[in-house]
Amino acid sequence: GRFPVTPHPLPATQAQRAQALGDLHFGRVFSDHMAHARWTRDGGWDAHEIRAYGDLTLSPAAAVLHYGQEVFEGIKAYRHDDGTVWTFRPRYNAARLNLSCRRMALPELPEEDFVASLVDLVRTDVEWVPSGEGESLYLRPFAFASEAFLGVRAAELVDYYLIASPSGAYFPNGLKPVSIWVTQDYHRAGRGGTGAAKTGGNYASSLLPQRLAAEQGCDQVCFLDDVTGDNLEELGGMNLMVVDADGTVRTPRLTGTILEGSTRSAILRLLLDAGRTVVETTISLEGLLEGIASGKVREVFACGTAAVVVPLGRLRGDGFDVTIKGAEVTHEIHDRLTGIQYGRVPDPYGWMYRL
Ligand code: COI
Repeated sequence: GRFPVTPHPLPATQAQRAQALGDLHFGRVFSDHMAHARWTRDGGWDAHEIRAYGDLTLSPAAAVLHYGQEVFEGIKAYRHDDGTVWTFRPRYNAARLNLSCRRMALPELPEEDFVASLVDLVRTDVEWVPSGEGESLYLRPFAFASEAFLGVRAAELVDYYLIASPSGAYFPNGLKPVSIWVTQDYHRAGRGGTGAAKTGGNYASSLLPQRLAAEQGCDQVCFLDDVTGDNLEELGGMNLMVVDADGTVRTPRLTGTILEGSTRSAILRLLLDAGRTVVETTISLEGLLEGIASGKVREVFACGTAAVVVPLGRLRGDGFDVTIKGAEVTHEIHDRLTGIQYGRVPDPYGWMYRL
């Protein structure tokens, strides 16, 4: 492949791997290898390799540590019943990585390199793709400014890595409804900001509101737009969808402040093809609360690569606390999507890519 392999000198034994794969949660276990490539302003992308997973050596002056010039992606590899391993719409993630790179003044990675890094790493570490119910190999591509320079400008030395983490459910309770704290005090993104880019800073800024949500006893925080302070945006790591009593599904339209989820986009397509009315629109918190109270809104769910599809069971914020009972369409869409991803039903879209 494009990423020549230098094998790990001391890979995990079969027993060690079996133990690591025995009780999977999210993002704590890593496979034996990682993919890497390096970009210099003068030479472009070079030094493609697969090597042993391990700690990085980084200058303390590396720009990423100071100014946060970084982008990342999330994508999964699924083991099908016949043992073959597949990923989901890798070119979607390749293109989105490059949108993020553009916004963060990082060099774009050729799509062929992105896809080759997935193929070459997963083939090297194929034994690390778990086969339990709801399990997958979570792939985390990322690129960052490694140039040792404290001036504020786009770095001229950049590293791309891909690491792989065998994972189970993102939420410890699986498909159990999640509770949401809607923050009025913090916004995730503003007009012209970085909200549509998958960059670490967006997630860093969500941590305090997320902690405050947890202190209120909620699982996740939900952000509203910064202009009206009333329109739903996203959870910070997942997009939102609302199911009305008439079967219509609504989701916040992309305004430049929301991350365009791969799962979001796939679900919109699946719902349309199931004959539903699907609308990308402005959804106000006020309207949503009225809809829940009147019964016009039946379900609210969150979706993302890591979390897949999860029902929201409770919405709280300053002055409101409502329960949402329904999750029928949520489960339907969860099963339809994962059916395709795990190869249990045919994939009429050509979304699955054999690794
Ligand atoms: C995803 O992979 O779904 C993400 O958005 C990253 C993070 C929230 C785990």
